Amino acid sequence: MDYINFNAEGMNGCAEKKNNIFCSTFYPKMTQKEKCSQEKAQDEDDEEYEDEDDEDEDAIQCNAMSREGGGQKAWKFCAVILRALSLVEWVNKRRRIMPFVVPTFLVLLFVPALRATVNDTTRKIVQDALFDALNSVDSATGLEPSVPDGAIVSSQVANAESKKLQFTGDVLEVATQFLVKKYGVGILTDANEVLAELSAPESASFLSQLRTKRQSSSDYSNPPSGQVCQGPPKSCFDPVHDRIRSITGYCNNRDKATQANAVTPIRRLLGTTSYSDSLQAIRNASVTGSPLPSTRLISNKLHDEGSTPNFSPSVNHLHMQIGQFIAHDIIFMPSSVAKDGSNLNCTSCSSPTTVSTNCAPIPAPSDDKYFTPVSKTEARCIRLTRALNGQSGFGVRTQIDQNTHYLDMSVVYGSSDCEAQNVRSFSNGLLKTYTGMGYALPPQTKNDTNCQSKNPYYCFTVGDFRNCLHPGLLPLHTVFIKEHNRLAVKVKSARSSWNDEQIYQFVRSIMVAQWQHIVYNEYLPKLLSDKYLTDFKLKTMKPGSGSFRGYDTGMNAALSGEFAAAAFRFGHSQSRQDFARQDATNKSLGAYDLGYNIFYSDQVYQKSLGGTETMLMGLIKTAAMQVDRYFSFPIRNQLFEIRGQNASGVDLIAVNIMRGRDVGLLPYVKYRDIVGLPKVQNWNDLASTFTAGNIAALKTVYADPADIDLYSGLVMETPISGGQLGPTASWIVAEQFRALKTGDRFYYENQVQNTVGFTQDQIDAIRRVKLAKIFCENTDIITNINVDVFDLNSNQVSCSSIPDIDLKWFL
Ligand code: HEM
Repeated sequence: MDYINFNAEGMNGCAEKKNNIFCSTFYPKMTQKEKCSQEKAQDEDDEEYEDEDDEDEDAIQCNAMSREGGGQKAWKFCAVILRALSLVEWVNKRRRIMPFVVPTFLVLLFVPALRATVNDTTRKIVQDALFDALNSVDSATGLEPSVPDGAIVSSQVANAESKKLQFTGDVLEVATQFLVKKYGVGILTDANEVLAELSAPESASFLSQLRTKRQSSSDYSNPPSGQVCQGPPKSCFDPVHDRIRSITGYCNNRDKATQANAVTPIRRLLGTTSYSDSLQAIRNASVTGSPLPSTRLISNKLHDEGSTPNFSPSVNHLHMQIGQFIAHDIIFMPSSVAKDGSNLNCTSCSSPTTVSTNCAPIPAPSDDKYFTPVSKTEARCIRLTRALNGQSGFGVRTQIDQNTHYLDMSVVYGSSDCEAQNVRSFSNGLLKTYTGMGYALPPQTKNDTNCQSKNPYYCFTVGDFRNCLHPGLLPLHTVFIKEHNRLAVKVKSARSSWNDEQIYQFVRSIMVAQWQHIVYNEYLPKLLSDKYLTDFKLKTMKPGSGSFRGYDTGMNAALSGEFAAAAFRFGHSQSRQDFARQDATNKSLGAYDLGYNIFYSDQVYQKSLGGTETMLMGLIKTAAMQVDRYFSFPIRNQLFEIRGQNASGVDLIAVNIMRGRDVGLLPYVKYRDIVGLPKVQNWNDLASTFTAGNIAALKTVYADPADIDLYSGLVMETPISGGQLGPTASWIVAEQFRALKTGDRFYYENQVQNTVGFTQDQIDAIRRVKLAKIFCENTDIITNINVDVFDLNSNQVSCSSIPDIDLKWFL
């Protein structure tokens, strides 16, 4: 990148200086009103779409996509939005003026078909199914007793955009069930044709009515905050998309602008799911016909660490913590919500019928040592809310990722334009911090009802909502915010004329590049054996060895359900019960207990104990747990536990296994084919990849090897030499990181045509970046550090001996 002739005055500068990543500002200095009128003017220039209402963001987006030549693809996207609008509108109106609206809706539904491949009978059938589904979803409202804010602590909290998708998803799921029950699955293709007709571009009057009516519609969202956040230009051919990675992931792939964006579906590795009704019902029966065991029972029998924890001999606890930070960058699968947008209370065993069909509580065995029965007559369940259904057509339940799927530091910068704005100071490119303690922390948030600590120990506003899930995340959030600000100060002093936006985007691009380099160069090599790194082209290149030429527009970077709901959760096995604090001289300052601190933030406010810096030292200086089938006590018993109230939380491992069933993952044995492992017909066939002890343990819970849940299977495989994971988990993880690398147009080592990436010198400068140096530069106490930052036994070197990123190549 060449920033020398930076033109701060507007987009036109782009033409003059091709090699400049953001020669225009991303958000030119305009008032909201001006922005709107500018967009309107642009829209009006386009005769074909002159009817479009520029105040409707969705319509603008559809419009722009069509202009880009997206054609059918664009309208597929629009179909999703417009279907949501139509259903929302219909339900809302029907509640108040049902007699008038239903006929109107029917008329609308029968707008003459433009692609008449379905007949009127089918249209009527589909309309009836939608009608009944809406009735059913609507009448379910009474089932949800309201839950006081904060009573149900959750990490997977849906944002407003996801909630809107759930509304459509819930209705389509029920409508699908009605259709299939009556007419069989064969009708679904035609039913989807009918949906497509409703959103056909030619149905202009229909569309404009929906758009106007939407203003008064309601959905599952909480009342909107009123914040209006302006995104980047909608056209992927706008020059800004050559230079800047958008916050939402939009236009990363120019052919498929919304692919792998925030709030879009996950992928399926085998293109299929394992629902017991083939559509949405959680798998609950063994291949032998007996019921599948409760996932808490599986957790108790297979995953209890007992009294002999296995510590890793070589990997430190920081490897665990960075793994979770990576997870929070790339995946946020939100949980379903109640109709008023609040968290569902899926605690009681009867909640699927008394609260919501989106409840999937996990029964605890009657002899459970921690989750003991509620009373002599009432069994205990561990609460679980199903992952939010974002299906956009008739058919199978579909889960979404609320964050951008890309490895783009959205954990710091956010995945929506509003989130991005909330973390910025809008002065000199800096991110906000809270300095009330005398040291930097992320900015506080005072209205997070999930945060169990109260005034003055608030949780924080960063790019990802889950920052306070446990205190170990906060040292990393703090360091990366500080690193951004450190670079921003340097840039400002070298380029005093640059405005806030220019500095912010410039630094953000370097931060993402550094992060990608750390993940591929330092984190993954500690996780995967050399064979997987090589086979999946995950190795970074050496300085001076050119650029990466593997960008593939056909590669979908989206997360696979298998990675998100199973394989990458291996990290739960690495977590210790005790999180150590150490000072700069390696002196122990004690430890805090994980189970006592889930969604409590007070640890980071402990000034006398060194705040977040001694926590960071503790992560570096203590061993991670071995990746195996055993999990520490708090992970298996105390997630979200309210202090002093035993069994008020959940078992994360029982949740992981159940989550796998919830999202329709196939049983473990089905994935062995893609890895090239032998088929499994009987227990003996597992012998080449499982120890005899693990096979014997599996037999105690599963009636047949074909029943083994993916999560348990993955953490019970024998690890490949040189890595921490077994063959199937390694494959699923490696496949995902290949997709994130080759499917990302802005991957830092890339040089892609019509995309302004980094120059060779800049790529090489990033290739020299070390996470250890970032820690050195952004802490007061660290002066010596592990040269191999994730190696427990690494040599210690002085911070001054590790080179800092050299901004001279960028400025
Ligand atoms: C103390 C450490 C950790 C805690 C307390 C924790 C907690 C959680 C919780 C509560 C969930 C949501 C489960 C659900 O509702 O399905 C979750 C999901 C997940 N965790 Fe962890 N986790 C930890 C560490 C890690 C690590 C080290 C990794 C990876 C190396 C990881 C990877 C994931 C992934 C991929 C998900 C799925 C996220 C999603 O679906 O949005 N976690 N974790």
